[in-house]
Amino acid sequence: MDIALWLLIIGWIFVLLWVPFIIYTNKKSHPKALFVLFFAEMWERFSYYGMRALLVLYMTKVLFIDLAQNVAESQAYGIYGSYTAMVYLFPVIGGLVADRLLGFKKTIIWGGILMALGHFTLALQGIENLEGNMPFFFAALSLIIVGNGFFKPNISSFLGTFYETDDPRKDGAFSIFYMGVNIGSFLATLTCGYVGQEINWHYGFGLAGIGMMLGLIMFYLASKTNMLQGKGGEPEEVTAGDRKLFGMKPTIAVYALSLLAIPVCAFMLDLSDFMAGALIVISLGIIAYLIFQAVTNKNKVEGQRILVVVVLFFFHAVFWALFEQAGGSLTIFADKNVDRLVGGTEIPASLFQSLNPFFIMVLAPVFSWLWITLNKAGKEPSTPMKFVLGLAQLALGFAVIVLGAKFFASGDGLVPIVFLALMYMLHTMGELSLSPIGLSMVTKLSPAKIVGFVMGAWFLSIALANKMAGLIGTLTTSEAVDDNTPAAVTLGIYSNTYFIWGVCVVGGAALLLLVLVPLLRKWMHGIH
Ligand code: PHE
Repeated sequence: MDIALWLLIIGWIFVLLWVPFIIYTNKKSHPKALFVLFFAEMWERFSYYGMRALLVLYMTKVLFIDLAQNVAESQAYGIYGSYTAMVYLFPVIGGLVADRLLGFKKTIIWGGILMALGHFTLALQGIENLEGNMPFFFAALSLIIVGNGFFKPNISSFLGTFYETDDPRKDGAFSIFYMGVNIGSFLATLTCGYVGQEINWHYGFGLAGIGMMLGLIMFYLASKTNMLQGKGGEPEEVTAGDRKLFGMKPTIAVYALSLLAIPVCAFMLDLSDFMAGALIVISLGIIAYLIFQAVTNKNKVEGQRILVVVVLFFFHAVFWALFEQAGGSLTIFADKNVDRLVGGTEIPASLFQSLNPFFIMVLAPVFSWLWITLNKAGKEPSTPMKFVLGLAQLALGFAVIVLGAKFFASGDGLVPIVFLALMYMLHTMGELSLSPIGLSMVTKLSPAKIVGFVMGAWFLSIALANKMAGLIGTLTTSEAVDDNTPAAVTLGIYSNTYFIWGVCVVGGAALLLLVLVPLLRKWMHGIH
């Protein structure tokens, strides 16, 4: 039996033991809603990452099979980049819709339906006459983009509503929730990746769709009980019938407009360069709008709290731009420059991507416990300080790989596996110090009326970061390097890039933020 199948089986067994354990140990201290949202998000992420694991491979090996390899790859990366960027751009709209029109529950359910439709559309491409049909393919991706925009930010914001603003359990709850995210992505990479590549692409995509359906059904059933405490309904103005959109009931208008958005997105997916520019313009516009909101806010405290989100937006983007090397340059690095032989078998480079969700599963409860314990002792670091820690650990992770490359590589340029594993562990610890805390912070610092919108803006920093990640990744490629370049040469290129960007830039950002911590704490006005 091959190693991928073994890992798949072991992975599932591990999760089936781990999840009940986590629920059992946290059941008493958290509301039931946490677990409802945990599972809904786990299956949504299963679908998202399961499909993502296959996407680039499917394009290069099936859709663009007739093109020359380098042309096929660059086309695939272009579409992939625009796709992920739009995935994190649409949450701005999704957040607004939940705040103003539909409320969390309806918006989340509508998003889930669209996403499931998207995955099944990809699966349907398996039908003979549809294989390779580009408009159909783009429509599928667009359904996922729009659906994700409704689903993803709102499930995080919704979670925030089950805790008082300064509830000490809040960061812990987001750490547990974040574990759901990563259990989903861990299982997805192993399962959909295996089924899609070894059995049939379309079964892999179909599996992603089934995952989404499971999450959706679960969420829907739970929303009919009192597990969600009757929260997440439509805003008052809407239920009172005062709000109209284009003369229609808001619900109908949103459904209709989102269907109209599908062909528009599909068209944009084809314009990769345009997207990069548009993304920057839109992001700056939205940030400017947030600053405007902050400065003109009659309530000075509220205004300054929004400014804290704006400042951290940029540090968040720096973090993800380097962190996201994982799916790109770090995987190619693992392929070329890591000694992947274990007990006589070579581990495929892509499998290293499951190390991150694996470490999250194991370490999230530790972090969740750590914050609560430190809090009780009155020593919990503030949110901006946790961001400093996150950036510092990311930089440290890159330092480990640079040291491994400089001092421990074999004569033919191969770095021992333990350096890569250690780096991923540090990156993951950095992610846990910053990412769930960031989500939690947005729900604390934004005025209740615009929390969905601010959460959407927060995701935008990830959209920007994904584009930047691609640009940093291309620094490790050059025309002079091809398949025959000796590993000892590529090793130098990688370690230089990681030293400059990973160690110096990220480390520098950590120091800069450290200096800003006192000011940010003041602007947070008592929120931790
Ligand atoms: N792995 C995380 C997730 O899928 C990445 C992320 C963090 C995305 C924060 C959005 C916001 O949820």
